[in-house]
Amino acid sequence: MDKLIIEGGIRLNGEVTIGGAKNAALPIMTAAILASGESIISNIPRLKDITTMGALLAHLGIGFHIEDGKVSLQAENITSIDAPYDLVKTMRASVLVLGPLVARMGEAKVSLPGGCAIGARPINLHLMGLTKMGAEVELTEGYAVVRAKRLKGATIYFDTITVTGTENLMMAACLAEGTTVLENAAMEPEVVDLANALISMGADIQGAGTSVIKIRGISSLKPLNYSVIPDRIETGTFMAAAGITGGEIKIKNCNFPHLDSVIIKLKEAGLTINEEADGIVFKAPGKLRPVDVKTMPYPGFPTDMQAQFMALMSIAEGTSLITESIFENRFMHVAELKRMGADIKIQGSLATVRGIPSLTGAPVMATDLRASASLVIAGLAAKGTTIVDRVYHLDRGYEKIEEKLKPLGARIRRVK
Ligand code: EPU
Repeated sequence: MDKLIIEGGIRLNGEVTIGGAKNAALPIMTAAILASGESIISNIPRLKDITTMGALLAHLGIGFHIEDGKVSLQAENITSIDAPYDLVKTMRASVLVLGPLVARMGEAKVSLPGGCAIGARPINLHLMGLTKMGAEVELTEGYAVVRAKRLKGATIYFDTITVTGTENLMMAACLAEGTTVLENAAMEPEVVDLANALISMGADIQGAGTSVIKIRGISSLKPLNYSVIPDRIETGTFMAAAGITGGEIKIKNCNFPHLDSVIIKLKEAGLTINEEADGIVFKAPGKLRPVDVKTMPYPGFPTDMQAQFMALMSIAEGTSLITESIFENRFMHVAELKRMGADIKIQGSLATVRGIPSLTGAPVMATDLRASASLVIAGLAAKGTTIVDRVYHLDRGYEKIEEKLKPLGARIRRVK
């Protein structure tokens, strides 16, 4: 198992270019199921989750090839309609094949994902929506088997805002008979990017990016030729890395309005932000100010930035309150940050972070993707050596993070 060894306490300085968004690329890859022919998707990040999704699509009979950030998917024939347990348990986003498979093939058999490190994460709302669209749903031996000759348009209200639930039903509705209205839909930029990709395939979708999305079903779609948006969470992670190391980083190739909530909070913490023609420069203050945050669906503060922001606040001058309102168990990084000296107390969904002058290096263990990112940036700021174990979590969502950090001055290396 790979580990990252970080000699901390160095101010990061320089430029970084952001890669394609994992959470946009994954659903857009599954959208290729909806059309017969070759789909090409570019600005694909080099991540473990992308190759896992490629393996799943290949299992369905789709030719998968990836080179230089470009994926080709040959979806002439779908030869299988199941997403097996082994793939779904390594990557929950596998569930995104459900809507497209039912829409194109009339049937799908998808392993129920089960709980994960950050919460229970059920898919009841995905299944409720498909039922409303006329599908029969059977739960058997750990699988959801969903059948519908042709889905029918319906009005679907989500009790909880769900990103992949909105995406699954939006894809399913594209080939349904009649109009589907998704109410209390997720407004995340990745949902909008998927909608734009589907529209480029000929789909009739209105309202993506608002809480009500209207999809008029049509009989067929053409394959994709699409480039995914930059990754806002990778961007936010580098902003936090600038802040925590007292550094100055220019971030290139990002859609900054997607990070408004994070940028506002970083400004409150004292970072200065200068727009230049080819990017934005984030500069840390002498001392970080404490800032409260509460995670919320977009445009609120993203849960995927909570762990990294907490690492930043662990060395602020004062106390910050961090509330996690999306997932019930997304504080796994706290115990590890405490091993580095952080003063954090948890009561339910609230973390009280009392800033200390500096963190100290320690061996720590990654537990999920964003928790790992928070430990890496904590290690960059800490005095001494931090060893981050179980780096495979990080590799699921960050493109060779150490290779992007080294040119900024970080002393970080990977060992087997
Ligand atoms: N929920 C239900 N029932 C459902 C679906 C969701 O109760 O049928 C609940 C979840 O348990 C959770 C809340 O709704 O409490 C929101 O979950 P959501 O469905 O929005 O999460 P997701 O679609 O499974 C995506 C991202 C996550 C990100 C969340 C929240 C992808 C592939 N994953 O997950 O990304 O944290 O939205 O923004 O898009 C990550 O990249 O590290 C990551 C975990």
